[in-house]
Amino acid sequence: MAAVLIFFLFLSTFCLAKISAQQNHPNISLDSSLTPTGNSSAWLSRSGLFAFGFYKQGNGYVVGIFLAGIPQRTLVWIAKRDSPNFSSNVSLVLSSDRARLVLQQTGSPEVAIASPSERISSASMLDSGNFVLYNSDGRIIWQSFDYPTNTLLPSQRLGTGKELISSASETDDSTGIFRLSMQTDGNLVQYPIGTAPVASYSYWSSGTYGSGSNMTLNLEDDGYLYLINSSINILRNITEGGYPTHKIINLMKIDVDGIFRLYSISLDRGNQSIRWESTKNKCDPKGLCGLNGFCTRNDTVAYCKCIPGFDFVDQGNWRSGCERNFTAESCKTKGIGDKFTIMSEPGTVWEIESYKEFDAATEEDCANACLQDCNCEVAFFKDGRCGKQKLPLRFGIRSTTDSNIALVKVGVLNGSINEDKMPGNLPKSSKKEVRMDVLISGISLSIFGILILSIAVIFVYRNRKWAYTKLSPNIGVKFIEDVAPTAFTFAELEQATNEFNEEVGRGAFGTVYKGILPYSQKVVAVKRLERVLAEGEKEFQNEITVIGKTHHRNLVRLLGYCLDGIKRLLVYEYMCNGSLADVLFKPENHPCWDERIRIACDIARGILYLHEECETQIIHCDIKPQNILMDDNRCAKISDFGLAKLLNHDQTRTYTAVRGTRGYVAPEWHRKLPVTVKADVYSFGIVLLEIICCRKSVDWNTSEDQAILEEWAYDCYEAGEIHKLVGGDEVVDLRKLERMIKIAIWCIQDEPTLRPSMKKVLLMLEGTVEIPVPPCPTSFFSAV
Ligand SMILES: *[C@@H]1O[C@H](CO)[C@@H](O)[C@H](O)[C@H]1NC(C)=O
Ligand SMILES: *[C@@H]1O[C@H](CO)[C@@H](O)[C@H](O)[C@H]1NC(C)=O
Ligand SMILES: *[C@@H]1O[C@H](CO)[C@@H](O)[C@H](O)[C@H]1NC(C)=O
Ligand SMILES: *[C@@H]1O[C@H](CO)[C@@H](O)[C@H](O)[C@H]1NC(C)=O
Ligand SMILES: *[C@@H]1O[C@H](CO)[C@@H](O)[C@H](O)[C@H]1NC(C)=O
Ligand SMILES: *[C@@H]1O[C@H](CO)[C@@H](O)[C@H](O)[C@H]1NC(C)=O
Ligand SMILES: *[C@@H]1O[C@H](CO)[C@@H](O)[C@H](O)[C@H]1NC(C)=O
Ligand SMILES: *[C@@H]1O[C@H](CO)[C@@H](O)[C@H](O)[C@H]1NC(C)=O
Ligand SMILES: *[C@@H]1O[C@H](CO)[C@@H](O)[C@H](O)[C@H]1NC(C)=O
Ligand SMILES: *[C@@H]1O[C@H](CO)[C@@H](O)[C@H](O)[C@H]1NC(C)=O
Ligand SMILES: *[C@@H]1O[C@H](CO)[C@@H](O)[C@H](O)[C@H]1NC(C)=O
Repeated sequence: MAAVLIFFLFLSTFCLAKISAQQNHPNISLDSSLTPTGNSSAWLSRSGLFAFGFYKQGNGYVVGIFLAGIPQRTLVWIAKRDSPNFSSNVSLVLSSDRARLVLQQTGSPEVAIASPSERISSASMLDSGNFVLYNSDGRIIWQSFDYPTNTLLPSQRLGTGKELISSASETDDSTGIFRLSMQTDGNLVQYPIGTAPVASYSYWSSGTYGSGSNMTLNLEDDGYLYLINSSINILRNITEGGYPTHKIINLMKIDVDGIFRLYSISLDRGNQSIRWESTKNKCDPKGLCGLNGFCTRNDTVAYCKCIPGFDFVDQGNWRSGCERNFTAESCKTKGIGDKFTIMSEPGTVWEIESYKEFDAATEEDCANACLQDCNCEVAFFKDGRCGKQKLPLRFGIRSTTDSNIALVKVGVLNGSINEDKMPGNLPKSSKKEVRMDVLISGISLSIFGILILSIAVIFVYRNRKWAYTKLSPNIGVKFIEDVAPTAFTFAELEQATNEFNEEVGRGAFGTVYKGILPYSQKVVAVKRLERVLAEGEKEFQNEITVIGKTHHRNLVRLLGYCLDGIKRLLVYEYMCNGSLADVLFKPENHPCWDERIRIACDIARGILYLHEECETQIIHCDIKPQNILMDDNRCAKISDFGLAKLLNHDQTRTYTAVRGTRGYVAPEWHRKLPVTVKADVYSFGIVLLEIICCRKSVDWNTSEDQAILEEWAYDCYEAGEIHKLVGGDEVVDLRKLERMIKIAIWCIQDEPTLRPSMKKVLLMLEGTVEIPVPPCPTSFFSAV
């Protein structure tokens, strides 16, 4: 009896749903629009379960797909995840004039939510949760299922090469820090964002590596989650499935904490329960705690702690990572033991990246070895082995099973560290009593220091501001003069270069020809790009736009481009004095000392502009003397910037496998670490040494100990014999020379975070800031 009743109830709600659906669900036609606060803020699916449209988030709105038919609306897809939340006066239009789905806001440029290559003729929010766009033949030309964000719905597939990425926080659906990647090798793997897809960074994997390409992750209505390859062989059952489906939707989601879970959501009550999760250990997701923190947990929650001597970067946010709670002094000056001590944190593990490992009898031996070594910032002691490492530490977790002990070097203000407060034991401790006189003079000294510093900062700031205002009228005129690079046809450039007659250079990106533009008679350099990624037409144009917007006296100007089928050419202003390599490495061209400093500053200014001052940050990736050109006045200008993105990574690396050197390429390239602006700082450091010494960074024509410039320079610096680095008869201000060498050594530090920013480099070059004593850059480190 009861069963029949329930059946009838079910039938009636089903019919009701159907009726309302027919009322509110026509196909969405062109020129339909939505507004966040107006009559229609979303397009519903036939059953009313899913909706596409505006979803309130914080003070604004995001555009996405959400479960509308339940008490708590739940986002399952987000458009333009990383754009700011939209305000209430925007509208979403299925625009007929350009046949795109766009977001319009008066006074702001349109934002394309979807711009398929074919013309849209209608759209539909399907009951599966898929929002689709049709062409005039009724064929699907775009669907939200192809662009998953953090959720997988039943019948949606995560195809090869696709990823789900977690949200930043529970209230902010922009890109977070974890991903679930369906790899081309058939493996489904979880990694932190921004790491290379290699096993050492993964924290979960389906173990289906090598089971054929074309693997997809599939979810059925009943919560059955599995991997299938192109010949329809099920290769891995992730969940069993068989969960209820009546008035329940089962979906899979990668959560903010990096764990992916299968949820059952009740459609009439809105409550949800977790059916399955990729791990029960909330500390598993690597990088949950940020740098220098480690994850620890009790039965219910996971939270982060800082290693000893460190505090959270952002006190309110324990995932922000940790930084030293004292100012790290250089340990080069005498009496290391007085300035540093070691604190230990037992039972913790990190990503081991030690530059030196050796046997140590006790923890204390290991700690002392670290104390005696300026390069050592933290050491690991485990089972009689000691490893010395640099900061930062990544992927830290507390482990109850691992006997690993972290020994962290921390600074000592005479007596300010209280032994009782320290976790673990202390191999080498400082005096306990506080010496008031030292403390007071210390404090007054630092106050004085801060005062001087602030005055200096204000002074520098003022000066810069003044300089900007003085210059700006001219800059304004210049911007109006040349707005964007000109598009040329291939024929025009063929004619301009006299059929690519005069070759003036050849580089990683292609061959450069000299030419004369027909109308203006301007002499130009035409670069014919080879080996550009075939697919990248749009990408090419994007990059051209980015490069075209750069205007700086130390960058080579892009005057035009040509995009003709697969042919891609760039037109630059012509530099008659060749490259920096021609200037530095030919004895008859050697610039004098003052000119060298000027050249170094020019290059630094150019890179600084790319990193911090232009509209879109550009990492050059290939700073070397061959890419720095000299104009009529021997003013250095950087070329080839912005091209790195257009090529495969391997092609941008001009890695010369010479023993003990990496050429101009920063070590992180080889360690598969994310490459940041600091990679350019490294390359700049090598170039700076070459400028100072007017020789190549590797030169086997000299004696063995001088062959590798970076090593020889450091040796000379340490031995106090920097005069050896410049030719004997040259008149050089030794104080300036020492500054230059110190700057270069800072730039070529192995550890990217130790390298200064280009802004800092420039200040140091200009002599405005003090340069601390640099640590040894590459000690003990062998390139991998
Ligand atoms: C909103 O709905 C009301 C009543 O249903 C209708 O009168 C009004 O024209 C609608 N406004 C728009 C902009 O569609
Ligand atoms: C959107 O709003 C949420 C909630 O207020 C906020 O956390 C998030 O930072 C906002 N996102 C952007 C990109 O402004
Ligand atoms: C839209 O709203 C934003 C923020 O509420 C406001 O800054 C902007 O001026 C508004 N635009 C128009 C055209 O009303
Ligand atoms: C919506 O449009 C598509 C493509 O034009 C068509 O295949 C489908 O049957 C239409 N659905 C309805 C309910 O009209
Ligand atoms: C799919 O997996 C099966 C079983 O491992 C294997 O025999 C088959 O070759 C795979 N198909 C493809 C296309 O790789
Ligand atoms: C992958 O699948 C697509 C569509 O099913 C098919 O066209 C393609 O040939 C497959 N590739 C491989 C390597 O199996
Ligand atoms: C997955 O489960 C199905 C039944 O649900 C079973 O037939 C199949 O053998 C399982 N496959 C694997 C790889 O475990
Ligand atoms: C929702 O709550 C009810 C009653 O507490 C429970 O029986 C049901 O299993 C829950 N449903 C889900 C999907 O969690
Ligand atoms: C787990 O740790 C959190 C945070 O320190 C604390 O609030 C909670 O009470 C602890 N729970 C248990 C069961 O110890
Ligand atoms: C730094 O942290 C350590 C412990 O982590 C603490 O003992 C020390 O007092 C802190 N120093 C400062 C200056 O806050
Ligand atoms: C620390 O104190 C000891 C004795 O109290 C003194 O000899 C030493 O010079 C002090 N070190 C520093 C760096 O102030």
